[in-house]
Amino acid sequence: NNKALTDSFGRSFGYLRLSVTDQCNFRCLYCLPDGSSCVAKTDLSLQEIKQLVTTFAELGTSKVRITGGEPSLRKDLTSIISTVKAIPGIQTVALSTNGYRLQKDVRHWREAGLDQLTVSVDSLDEATFALVTGQDKLPQIMAGLELADSLGFDSIKLNTVLLKQHNAAALADFQALVRQKNWTLRFIELMQTQTGSAFFRQQHLSAQALEQQLQQQGWTVLTKTATAGPAREYQHPDYQGRLGFITPYQQDFCDSCNRLRVSSTGLLFLCLFAEQHQNLRPWLNQPTELLKGWLQQQVQQKKASHFLHQQNPGATRNFAMIGG
Ligand code: GTP
Ligand code: 5AD
Ligand code: SF4
Repeated sequence: NNKALTDSFGRSFGYLRLSVTDQCNFRCLYCLPDGSSCVAKTDLSLQEIKQLVTTFAELGTSKVRITGGEPSLRKDLTSIISTVKAIPGIQTVALSTNGYRLQKDVRHWREAGLDQLTVSVDSLDEATFALVTGQDKLPQIMAGLELADSLGFDSIKLNTVLLKQHNAAALADFQALVRQKNWTLRFIELMQTQTGSAFFRQQHLSAQALEQQLQQQGWTVLTKTATAGPAREYQHPDYQGRLGFITPYQQDFCDSCNRLRVSSTGLLFLCLFAEQHQNLRPWLNQPTELLKGWLQQQVQQKKASHFLHQQNPGATRNFAMIGG
């Protein structure tokens, strides 16, 4: 029963986003300002992750993104990377991190088989970075990115959550960063989470004005590849890197959705914005055929589109749980 995971709208899912912990050592204003959701839970073990990803791979998954919380808080992250990478069918292993352990560990991650790296960088100004993330670690993170740059990753991406008062006026700084570096920096429109509605009202900004500025400066949009995510990316002849935008409120990525999400405790989420989830952990200690059948059934429940496109979307859950 190895039919590729395909839903009732004909979308197939070759991309798994797997959270390995919901703990985080940063306190980003838009995510975990008070650390409130940081309650220790029993995360999937390395063995459970191996079994889970093996089953997904047999159903057509070829790319796994390891997320959190902050994945590098797991002591066994390097083993998780090498274990996932060694599973037949898995071609690409990606990691989303806040960069805290980059300098110390990125070489080990690369040697373990990590292909793609995404680091959150919300400001290039040290004081602003500290204000937004609760950690004054910008210089170390930038040094970690420099090191990563020398290790031959397939791609290095930076995520910048667009914040009206903290980084919206800093386009020139972000541009300067990608001038000499073959990195892709994406501005993500702030999404409203359950804990941050006042913050959302203060800081949410549409990316449209920034995007128009780029176009006026001669940046041109890149054609999307078949497996591309929701970002719209721009290039410019004077820049080695790219700038991009992820604009969930303007645009519907759902028609081409190619991904499923699993939380660190083994909850399957059919969408970033799904209100519901199902626990797949009980299926992990059983014959893999049962998990396969269950997954095939579950994906049939995936909705056509997410609720951000309703008239009055409201709030989604905090990203620390399933890493965006
Ligand atoms: P790749 O597709 O491998 O580039 O993954 P990535 O994490 O680098 O970028 P991706 O485009 O998957 O998502 C980056 C961020 O976009 C996520 O962490 C979310 O915060 C945000 N995002 C906002 N809306 C959506 C959505 O509807 N779908 C997805 N996939 N991501 C969204
Ligand atoms: N809105 C937009 N992006 C968010 N992220 C976390 N919370 C939010 C939010 N409320 C981003 C982080 C990180 C990625 C995994 O998700 O900045 O880059
Ligand atoms: Fe931690 Fe990422 Fe949330 Fe910031 S956005 S608090 S780094 S999980």
